[in-house]
Amino acid sequence: MPGNLALRARGAAFWARAAPGWARHADRQDEIGRPLGAVALDRLRPRPGEWVLDVGCGCGGTTAEIARVVAPSGRAVGLDLAAAMVAAAQARFAAAAGPGLRFVVGDIEVLDRVPGAPFDAAYSRMTLMLLADPAAGLATIRRSLRPGGRLAATVFRDGAVNPWLPAAMLGAAPHLGPMPPLPIGDEPGPFAFADPARVTRLFAAAGFTDVAVHPHDVVLAAPDDPGGIAEWLIEVGPAGAAYRDSGPAARASARAGAARLLERFREAGTGYRLPAGLWLITAETPVSHRPSDRSRTP
Ligand SMILES: C[S@@+](CC[C@H](N)C(=O)[O-])C[C@H]1O[C@@H](n2cnc3c(N)ncnc32)[C@H](O)[C@@H]1O
Repeated sequence: MPGNLALRARGAAFWARAAPGWARHADRQDEIGRPLGAVALDRLRPRPGEWVLDVGCGCGGTTAEIARVVAPSGRAVGLDLAAAMVAAAQARFAAAAGPGLRFVVGDIEVLDRVPGAPFDAAYSRMTLMLLADPAAGLATIRRSLRPGGRLAATVFRDGAVNPWLPAAMLGAAPHLGPMPPLPIGDEPGPFAFADPARVTRLFAAAGFTDVAVHPHDVVLAAPDDPGGIAEWLIEVGPAGAAYRDSGPAARASARAGAARLLERFREAGTGYRLPAGLWLITAETPVSHRPSDRSRTP
């Protein structure tokens, strides 16, 4: 079983290679993927003037949404491991860039505190289960929050309640080159936080209080565009890099293969309904907890 260092290196390489696909489909991801994080944003209830951290912000759509809510005096900071994701976020939201909206490249597992700390609140959509060393990543988030700070995040539950996720990869893979290694057990991956007891233990060990993990089911509604939807789901998944490395014929076969397995979620003429089973995780930092340096970095 690879250790944390090897898993971190694997994750960094994976996300660097994945970023072009995420950037290409960023608008679609924001629009169709919105239900994947909306419940956490509702629960977090950011207020004007607050400073909010978005962990694993990808191409920045959720950070920009938070920035609009905390404006004019608040701040939203999106942190992501992949420089290309952050570059895409900066390019997409250049018009809104300023002290109220900032994107930072960094690994939540190795930082002591995220630049801009202490934050009033932390948000994360579909990232925490991907951390090679979640104990380290959650501890950084906790240290980056003020005493009495709050967190709300979503992650996938297990594959059985998110069947469309493996479908795109399984349909595409036979037509493409080698895939990255599939995660085993607790290794980082979409279903690494399937066990709510493990999630609760990790957050409590990182120093959070009032940890709650609740199931939340949503349906992603996507337009009736089999080629476009297949390509989106291939490119944001583990087959994305192999897909982009392939020639047009292999890519067309991969799209057709994925579309075939996604057909059961499609109603012709109406569109796709992709059922997603999530955990909504909420937690707080103790009111007595003191971050090492309480002055905010600008
Ligand atoms: C599944 S994507 C989700 C992106 C975005 N939150 C969304 O929902 O569209 C996971 C993101 O987490 C980032 N990520 C993975 N490990 C990370 C780490 N250790 N520190 C910071 N970001 C990380 C990846 O680069 C990627 O952009």
